[in-house]
Amino acid sequence: MDLVSIRKSYRRYARHYDVIFGRVFAQGRRLALKTLAPVSGKRVLEVGVGTGISLPFYCPDAEVVGIDVSREMLEIARQRVADGMCPAVTGLAEMNAEHLAFADDSFDAVVAMYVASVVPNPDRLFAEMWRVCRPGGQILVVNHFASRQWILRSFERSLRPLSRAVGFRPDMELSDFVAVAGQQPVAIEPASLFGYWKQIQFTKPA
Ligand SMILES: C[S@@+](CC[C@H](N)C(=O)[O-])C[C@H]1O[C@@H](n2cnc3c(N)ncnc32)[C@H](O)[C@@H]1O
Repeated sequence: MDLVSIRKSYRRYARHYDVIFGRVFAQGRRLALKTLAPVSGKRVLEVGVGTGISLPFYCPDAEVVGIDVSREMLEIARQRVADGMCPAVTGLAEMNAEHLAFADDSFDAVVAMYVASVVPNPDRLFAEMWRVCRPGGQILVVNHFASRQWILRSFERSLRPLSRAVGFRPDMELSDFVAVAGQQPVAIEPASLFGYWKQIQFTKPA
């Protein structure tokens, strides 16, 4: 995966993204926003915000900033905000999640939904999420990790050569992600039926 192929994939997906991935990923987004609910009134960064499909569902008194590398995905998010559907949103920006242009400790919570297996370097993504989160703040990652079931696992492996074309890595191991994150999760929960997607929650020590 590299930024050029990611931008190319999501340029292609943008217009149809909500129809294709709206429902499929809905449960994980709902879980993440429910987990973040006690953070209302605080600053939240959503990295890889895409078309902003989750933005209407943040507590209106939160201050949400969204970033993404795909201009075409962001255009749709901007339209959502312009239509008045996202009262919590205070900013959207084209930015690489692996090099965030925010100061250390800027946010009370940082969330990445279905982004960890898309970025070129999940370790850089996580390091940046951690850096911009304040001590005591929350970091949430919702993602698909390699299946435990051997049939699905073999299928996911067989898709690996297509990663660049489809725009994500289908077989990232949960243990590899936690290892590169270098931090112990405080909770790991299923974010879909059969746990195909998972939410991993970290708290940055105060
Ligand atoms: C599968 S979509 C997820 C979108 C949204 N979070 C959702 O819940 O549907 C992955 C998004 O991550 C973005 N992305 C990939 N690599 C990125 C990077 N390095 N920095 C910022 N955004 C990135 C893509 O452009 C795309 O919008």
